[in-house]
Amino acid sequence: MNTPTPLPGGTWTLGDLTVSRFGYGAMQLAGPWVMGPPADHQGAIAVLREAVELGITHIDTSDAYGPRITNELIREALHPYPESLHVVTKAGANRDASGGWPTARRPEDLRRQVLDNLEALGLETLDLVNLRLGNGEGPVPEPVAESLGALVEMQDEGLIRHLGVSNATADQVGEAISIATIVCVQNMYNLAHRDDDDLIDMLAAQGIAYVPFFPLGGFTPLQSGALSAVAARLDTTPMAVALAWLLQRSPNILLIPGTSSVAHLRENIAGAALVLSTDDLAQLDEIGRQTLSRG
Ligand SMILES: NC(=O)c1ccc[n+]([C@@H]2O[C@H](COP(=O)([O-])OP(=O)(O)OC[C@H]3O[C@@H](n4cnc5c(N)ncnc54)[C@H](OP(=O)(O)O)[C@@H]3O)[C@@H](O)[C@H]2O)c1
Repeated sequence: MNTPTPLPGGTWTLGDLTVSRFGYGAMQLAGPWVMGPPADHQGAIAVLREAVELGITHIDTSDAYGPRITNELIREALHPYPESLHVVTKAGANRDASGGWPTARRPEDLRRQVLDNLEALGLETLDLVNLRLGNGEGPVPEPVAESLGALVEMQDEGLIRHLGVSNATADQVGEAISIATIVCVQNMYNLAHRDDDDLIDMLAAQGIAYVPFFPLGGFTPLQSGALSAVAARLDTTPMAVALAWLLQRSPNILLIPGTSSVAHLRENIAGAALVLSTDDLAQLDEIGRQTLSRG
């Protein structure tokens, strides 16, 4: 049974955890290129507190953000966490001194990362851990059994409540589902990057959440003539249209847009409530088709 939320999109249930479909991605709270502390520490704390105040019950993070900085900010801002709040994290990559994201998916790497997340967040159990696959370029077709098996072991020990996969191919999602109960898939997807259209529909049919990262384009904001035209016609912003489109795209899509600004957070929540017409949706569909035809 889903509980009411004041946020656009209502709620979704991840395993036994009800979350607002409008969530918050905490990656952008760390310093430039997700390294080091934020320029405005109190500003970052304010964004996290405002998110929860406004009804967000799903925060996405990773101990690789900062590294550690983002998790420490979440703890400082919100611990002890309200019972309704679910902090979702990842394991599978580390950071190096130059800000790279080297793969770290051996069982011992994953255990270290789970323990680091628990400590930095001040938790005894992580509500949901996504096994982060692939690399910074995107998904890589390779087996997931050994890494996922290590997380299942930690789930059995009570360190993790639910599991998901991230940066995964459709085949890897299938393999993961055959090994463990997977409650979400977190991949790159937005109006201009629609490689996962079929995967989203398949997951929706199975009651599994799809959580697009870079919903607003990430480090390169979404830009398109069609998007600007729809936004201008509706007297709103491209960001609002991009978020509303995702909520309307499929009921299993959960939003985790990132921002380091309270004003943008409020703007995004208001914007995502926009209702797009069939004509708007058809025009927005062109963006994905243009991207596909450019290869
Ligand atoms: N699984 C993975 O491999 C993976 C990879 C990347 C990200 N993620 C997760 O996905 C989340 C979302 O991705 P993201 O934060 O990188 O990208 P995003 O949500 O697509 O975009 C964030 C960017 O948009 C800007 N922005 C947000 N609202 C805005 C507004 N109303 N007006 C103007 N600019 C606005 C932010 O700048 P301001 O700070 O100025 O608002 C920030 O630079 C992350 O926070 C992270 O939790 C996961």
